[in-house]
Amino acid sequence: MNELSSSAQRMEAGERAQSTAFSQGEIIPLLQEAQEECGFISEEQIDEVAAVTGASASAVYGVATFYSQFRLQAPGKHMIRVCEGTACHVLGAKDVLQALEMNLNIGVDETTSDGLFSLESVRCLGCCSLAPAMVIDDETYGRVSPDRISEILSAYRKEAANE
Ligand code: FES
Repeated sequence: MNELSSSAQRMEAGERAQSTAFSQGEIIPLLQEAQEECGFISEEQIDEVAAVTGASASAVYGVATFYSQFRLQAPGKHMIRVCEGTACHVLGAKDVLQALEMNLNIGVDETTSDGLFSLESVRCLGCCSLAPAMVIDDETYGRVSPDRISEILSAYRKEAANE
């Protein structure tokens, strides 16, 4: 074993040891708090959580990226939540989601480059009788079909253009 690889291995082992010296149970509530405050978790907040817990920033980042509840990007002005629960799935939620992704030119958990929309997929919105359903901010859209997506989104785009 050469000196370089042994030194690299020691550093890796050190990082591993450091990452187990704190519990995820300490990090998760702090990340939740940070996200509540700003709507997402910034690099500065990752560093702050690392400083408070004694974990490395990369370990905190690892926790933040592991759990889908955490968002590492500022959310768009309008949050679109598409239901992919059973009732919605059976009635075409996949097609609705695909139409949204094509129209917005983003995937799930992403934000449009103009910052207007973020897209999320959820398990149930609690309005299964309206399947397939989606919610934009606090507005529920029921029995959505892919060909309604353009019309629905254009109302938000027009509103943004008039502000
Ligand atoms: S399964 Fe979609 S709203 Fe319940």
